[in-house]
Amino acid sequence: MYQIVTKRMLTPNVKLFEVEAPAIATRARPGQFIILRIDEKGERIPLTIVDSSPKDGTIILIAQEVGKTTKKLGKMREGDGIADIVGPLGNPSEIKKYGQVVVIGGGVGIAEAYPEAKALKEAGNRVICIIGARNKDLLILEEEMRQVSDELHITTDDGTKGRKGFVTDVLKDLISQKKIDLVTAIGPTIMMKAVSEMTRPHGIKTIVNLNPIMLDGTGMCGVCRVTIGGETKFACVDGPSFDGHLVDFDELMARLRIYLEEEGLSMERFEKQGN
Ligand code: FAD
Ligand code: FES
Ligand code: MG
Repeated sequence: MYQIVTKRMLTPNVKLFEVEAPAIATRARPGQFIILRIDEKGERIPLTIVDSSPKDGTIILIAQEVGKTTKKLGKMREGDGIADIVGPLGNPSEIKKYGQVVVIGGGVGIAEAYPEAKALKEAGNRVICIIGARNKDLLILEEEMRQVSDELHITTDDGTKGRKGFVTDVLKDLISQKKIDLVTAIGPTIMMKAVSEMTRPHGIKTIVNLNPIMLDGTGMCGVCRVTIGGETKFACVDGPSFDGHLVDFDELMARLRIYLEEEGLSMERFEKQGN
């Protein structure tokens, strides 16, 4: 059992968990993730390791409640135990000194962008962060992102905080004003596609962290396959980060919707029967 030491509500449906997992905490690097199973009968879901403390033997996970498993996780309390957590999985992000970098986080993707921004800052880069959400109540980790940024830009779709519009509106201005050596984008697939399309004509290296459906996380099942530059890759072992200019985003978006009917039924049953 992996005990939940602390639980914090970031927004009504986004929760932060500090979980005891000493073996993972000592090895976790930015960009890596875990796969957990809440209980014996639970499905396996991937979540990014947002932070880790080897000293306390804990890792930080942030989950947005979008379906049955994340809703069930959201109901767990401090002191409860998660049946299994496997990790760290995936390749760490390539962290080095690029120069001036832009780190973009959209929605719960801000949680995944945070370790990237922190590591890029520690590596000596000038870090410009852009975080965006539908409205101000869905915006997470603003203070944490501010601490690891030289410049922080906020956007909301409805204008309730920061600039009204999308993260790409800010990116467009930055590209016209500054020399940018790297863009890293993490968030909804459609956002990562829009960012990659915007940087492509300028030849700005763009890294995206892909979020396909995953099962085993070890390259055996093939569920997480994505097409990168015309080649099939498994995001769990070959990624999760890839060159955004090579990703077939339309295929990824279609594959993310494959089980919508089953996921809907499972959610309905969970809401009626609690399992
Ligand atoms: P469901 O209703 O079952 O599914 C909702 C949608 O989530 C689906 O339509 C599908 O697009 C996606 N999904 C479903 N099952 C999986 C699965 N096994 N693997 C991946 N996606 C799935 N979410 C966070 O909130 N925080 C994170 O830090 C985070 N990190 C991730 C890191 C990686 C490498 C990947 C691949 C995904 C990450 N996700 C993260 C997404 C998270 O795994 C899904 O939201 C979750 O699995 C949904 O499960 P569910 O049962 O609650 O919802
Ligand atoms: Fe099975 Fe990647 S999750 S191969
Ligand atoms: Mg599910």
